[in-house]
Amino acid sequence: MPDPSLPCGVRIAGTGSAVPKKVLTNEDLAGMMDTSDEWIRQRTGIGERRICSTDDESVFTLQCRAIRGALDDAGMKGSDLDLIIAASVTSEMTCPSNACRVATEIDAAPAGAFDIVAACSGFVYALNLADSLIRSGRHRAIGVIGCDAMSKAVDYEERTVSVLFGDAAGSAILVRDDDPLKGSIFQTMEADGSSWPSLYLPRKESDVPPGSTETSIRMGKLRMDGRDVYRFAVSKFKNVIKEALKATDLKVDDVSEFVCHQSNIRIIESAKEKLGLPDDKVYVNIDRYGNTSAGSVGLCLDELNKAGRLVEGETIVLVAFGGGLTWASSVWNL
Ligand code: ACO
Repeated sequence: MPDPSLPCGVRIAGTGSAVPKKVLTNEDLAGMMDTSDEWIRQRTGIGERRICSTDDESVFTLQCRAIRGALDDAGMKGSDLDLIIAASVTSEMTCPSNACRVATEIDAAPAGAFDIVAACSGFVYALNLADSLIRSGRHRAIGVIGCDAMSKAVDYEERTVSVLFGDAAGSAILVRDDDPLKGSIFQTMEADGSSWPSLYLPRKESDVPPGSTETSIRMGKLRMDGRDVYRFAVSKFKNVIKEALKATDLKVDDVSEFVCHQSNIRIIESAKEKLGLPDDKVYVNIDRYGNTSAGSVGLCLDELNKAGRLVEGETIVLVAFGGGLTWASSVWNL
């Protein structure tokens, strides 16, 4: 057990990600419902997404692949971890948590393991939580995973919601570092539950908000008020980054990468324009994967890492927002 009285920082020792094999293109969707490649690209920036299509592809298997990749990248084993935090809204079961099954799969026992639910903000919530736990001195190495298989939670007979989402997992291994300036130097994890009906996953009739005028609500399928969520996301995205830069006294030029939840290219473009963020500092992969909910920020982080764009000594800003409604940010010194 590390000495809790000594200050420490946190380092990203490795990253990993996983996506299913099956590519679902806009043309495929146009063959299933009344939509078109042109509409989807223009309104969302999405060209294709990946979806679980075989028995051996699930949230659990994507989580295992992603964390194994992150451990390999870090040159570590499952048994080196003392905690695993898995963020998802589509875990197979609530008991046991997926994190417990992942821990067994990678031989991490007796590491602690639990799931969190913060929708698209899940990975940033988990990263912030892990950073705080390591800084507390009670943990040395934590595996964080963000993953969702939204293909299981959307109704492919309903065109507005289903075209947006895909399946993916992203993972990072965080370890204690002697330099207290490394890791999250500023973070937020916030929520406003009063707006939950904007985005929810009903399991039974009584979950539907009283007074809902929506027809054809299917249990187990995501409901979304696209315009409400759009307005929320555009304003939060901008405000959360502004607040993070102000609190850390950083300018856009001081940040090497903005790693943002991939919800809709128009939401990302709006924040870029309002904050003057340059194209080459805002990573975008929504064209290839769609909105992968809790998987999105971790997937971006891993692609940036593999591209050599996470450089020691530089500062990145992570930001996400989603169902709950929730939002989160982290200013991270690499
Ligand atoms: N294909 C073709 N037409 C469609 C489709 C589709 N897939 N979906 C809706 N339309 C139609 C509508 O029926 C409507 O037709 P009408 O004018 O005849 O009534 C028209 O397109 C315009 O519909 P709007 O809902 O006004 O379209 P909008 O430009 O608002 O785009 C969208 C909809 C893409 C859902 C947008 O509101 C959005 O991106 N919202 C944010 C959603 C989001 O990011 N959710 C993710 C979860 S949370 C998160 O990640 C933050």
